Amino acid sequence: METIVYAHRGASKLAPENTLPAFELAYHMGADGIETDVQLTKDQVPVLIHDENVRRTTNGIGFVQDYTFKELQKLDAGSWLSDRYAQTRVPSLESFLEWVKDKPLKINIELKNNVIDYKDMEKIVYDLLASYNVLDRTVISSFNSKSIKKVEKIDPTISKAYLTSQKIKDLIPFAKAKGATGLHIRNRILSKPLVEKAHKEDLYVAVYTVNRPSLIMRCYKLGVDAIFTDVPHVAKKTLEQYKKKQVKDK
Ligand code: G3P
Ligand code: MG
Repeated sequence: METIVYAHRGASKLAPENTLPAFELAYHMGADGIETDVQLTKDQVPVLIHDENVRRTTNGIGFVQDYTFKELQKLDAGSWLSDRYAQTRVPSLESFLEWVKDKPLKINIELKNNVIDYKDMEKIVYDLLASYNVLDRTVISSFNSKSIKKVEKIDPTISKAYLTSQKIKDLIPFAKAKGATGLHIRNRILSKPLVEKAHKEDLYVAVYTVNRPSLIMRCYKLGVDAIFTDVPHVAKKTLEQYKKKQVKDK
């Protein structure tokens, strides 16, 4: 199976992360899927923003959980990157699903509940995904292992991944016990034995965040199942080079 290229927060190197322009650009660059981060507003609307605090990626201040969705919509989530993206909004998960529903893209919803453990987040997000009929092309991931377990209880059949940057002992049995079907690991803990062991235990392996062609190539060589990249066009080009080399070496 060919390695899946997920656009990390959309094509976030060139467009404001976790916004519709970044998703649109990723789609045009040929990404296979979109990875995006979810937080909940004060009125429990799932929105796509990486940080718990709006400061870094909008012109506002304070925590997402203290804004109603309507209030959050007043913020500019694009100007911090470039004037070209002025007036871009923090998207709701629903607007993203509306955008993605007719596109042949895979979806990775990362629940950002490892700092603030948002009440009922799993159920709220799951129900929305179900209502858009996208469960079979979605993986839900989280650094919060308890949250993975909660998703497992809601739906044992949906793809779920445990996210980690730590080389912990017994990572594979730990993730499996939570119901994970995959491991989303930081590039620095990637190794050949880890990929092999995970595959033996029926866990797929995805790696974040790989932007440099040499690192991307290493993932392909190790048989990593998916990568997260801010530059999907670079990853796709590198994949073509890798495939050509494979044919030549045969
Ligand atoms: O889901 C992969 C990656 O996005 C996890 O880290 O901090 O970029 O959300 P972060
Ligand atoms: Mg993420």
